[in-house]
Amino acid sequence: MLELTFGNLAIAVLTIFCANPLFVGIKQTIDFINSLAGSSKRQSRIDKYNDLHSDEKTGLTGRNDQYSDLVDSYYDLATEFYEWGWGTSFHFSTRFSWENFRTSILRHEYYLAGKLQVPPGAHILDCGCGVGGPARNIHRFTGAKVTAVTLNQFQVDRGNELCRREGVAGMVELKQANFMNMEQFGDNHFDGVFAIESTCHAPDRNGVYSEIFRVLKPGATFACYEWCLTDKYDANNAVHAKVKKDIEVGDGLPDIAHTSECTAALKKVGFEILETRDVALDKGLHIEDGLPWYWPLTPSWNPTQWPRFQFNPIMFRLMPIILSACEMIRLVPKGTAKTQVMLQAGGIGCSKGGEEGIFTPMWLMVGKKPM
Ligand SMILES: C[S@@+](CC[C@H](N)C(=O)[O-])C[C@H]1O[C@@H](n2cnc3c(N)ncnc32)[C@H](O)[C@@H]1O
Repeated sequence: MLELTFGNLAIAVLTIFCANPLFVGIKQTIDFINSLAGSSKRQSRIDKYNDLHSDEKTGLTGRNDQYSDLVDSYYDLATEFYEWGWGTSFHFSTRFSWENFRTSILRHEYYLAGKLQVPPGAHILDCGCGVGGPARNIHRFTGAKVTAVTLNQFQVDRGNELCRREGVAGMVELKQANFMNMEQFGDNHFDGVFAIESTCHAPDRNGVYSEIFRVLKPGATFACYEWCLTDKYDANNAVHAKVKKDIEVGDGLPDIAHTSECTAALKKVGFEILETRDVALDKGLHIEDGLPWYWPLTPSWNPTQWPRFQFNPIMFRLMPIILSACEMIRLVPKGTAKTQVMLQAGGIGCSKGGEEGIFTPMWLMVGKKPM
């Protein structure tokens, strides 16, 4: 039996404190500030990014032409903020009442991975991988080897470092590639491909889906969660149009497509469609008493409820002031406060889009490459 000594008591108190969400939040914030301090050129990156989203300076055609600059600048700016507020999987999920944030994120990934039906030893592609959270989780879930691509070199370096730390470097590898032209992979190469909330950054869905089709083996499956406008979206409604623009600016997107455009593009490039549906609508079906996907973006006064805490009316105004002060004393680089304002606006756009039901980040599409 364990003796009740001062040492054991101290270890128990320390363990409880370290597992406390507030402590975890403080530790993550210190890591975040340290990481920001090392990133230079933030000011020029945010100014360039804002120019790309200005309808006067660039416009939709310009944004589509310069999509790779848009995405790369966006993730140079946003990656550390995402990891700070969200963890290493950069996507949404619905949530049962008995789940915590982390388990809901994992369930969402495993559900998609299940659609691929790959055995251990298979080699699959994560198309648009962030820092590789889903790639590592799906490797552990399926046993498959995962190659994961992102346009952004900062994410590749960070993701491969996390693979080493988590002991999966031999089975999960991040590579820099543009999913519109993955020339480093031959035809009929992968046993499965998945994409989580990434192909929305493509300037044209036919382009990215046809590349995925090319690298998949015949008979293999592609499964993805797409960011889409739903049937409830009305382009003539000024509130809807503002929500759409806020999401585009706050999330590095050239334009947002309707669900029907994505499904049509998947069919057009040759996939046999196995399934399409809006997983966001599971809330209200079998997830009766659960939480909607946009819940983490709704305001909270509880400081342990991160990222919700930053959306309460006080923190919402205070955060840019705190970050500007940190810029002045050179704790974080110039441009950090502007970046945070841009990301917050995107969060509010997503949350409003979800509440109104005009936008979904989880339009599920499963397609098979014919034999
Ligand atoms: C919202 S993040 C999602 C990341 C990841 N799927 C996850 O859930 O953690 C979108 C990702 O798509 C990547 N991406 C966007 N456009 C890309 C392109 N043209 N080629 C490769 N990756 C791209 C971004 O670099 C980013 O890593």
